[in-house]
Amino acid sequence: MTKKPVWLFDEMKCSGVDFSCVEEVAAYDSMHQKLRDYARTSEAIIRRLSLDSASTVIDLGCGTGAFALHAAHKCRTIYAVDVSEAMLEYCKKQAEHKGISNIMYCHSGLLTYEHSGEPADAAVCFAVLHHLPDFWKQVALKRCFGMLKPGGRLMLFDIVFPSGTDSLEEVIDAWINSVGTMANDRLAQEGIIHVRNEFSTYDWIMEGLIKRSGFDISSAEYSNGVQATYVCTKR
Ligand SMILES: C[S@@+](CC[C@H](N)C(=O)[O-])C[C@H]1O[C@@H](n2cnc3c(N)ncnc32)[C@H](O)[C@@H]1O
Repeated sequence: MTKKPVWLFDEMKCSGVDFSCVEEVAAYDSMHQKLRDYARTSEAIIRRLSLDSASTVIDLGCGTGAFALHAAHKCRTIYAVDVSEAMLEYCKKQAEHKGISNIMYCHSGLLTYEHSGEPADAAVCFAVLHHLPDFWKQVALKRCFGMLKPGGRLMLFDIVFPSGTDSLEEVIDAWINSVGTMANDRLAQEGIIHVRNEFSTYDWIMEGLIKRSGFDISSAEYSNGVQATYVCTKR
């Protein structure tokens, strides 16, 4: 989609938590770092995407820079894309504080970002795609495909519901409880909002959307009931 149709999904209005709110952004890292070690997770992504000092990477929905700030030390250029100006501003301040100057900040989104540099070696989309309904997830994945070099890789992490269980309610409740135990009640409440109001989908739909966007799924890992990590390769 090069021209913006009038019916384009308004990705600037985020579902769920209001990431345009400066207070939400300021609280983000301290809460989410209880769920994951940013450095360790970023290192795993760098390794699985085979990134090195020559690599260019697009971080779609970069947030506070959980991945971008770490990857900037290991890669040539990071394009940090987010619909939230507050998130980008926060990420930029952190980068300045750390003396990082190879991050390009792009106030845009999965459905609107136009990558004008050379096709990238890789893209990362960590806990972002669920902000779009399924039809738009496919549009976003196809757009991402178009931003990458042949053989380029995408790391996709999100909350994805398992289709092969008769006890989905229990799986969801267990996940929300685990978030509450690992982090706090506030993040558990966000888990509830996530399931109720956001657009996480089934595993078979996600896999279908990825493949129909032109990617091969090099690996699909499901953990903690509803967490999915896909490493995808551009055919
Ligand atoms: C749960 S946070 C994840 C942030 C980051 N990737 C991380 O690993 O912590 C979701 C982020 O996606 C951004 N976002 C939501 N919808 C988006 C879209 N359509 N395009 C790009 N970013 C989006 C939000 O502003 C927010 O920064």
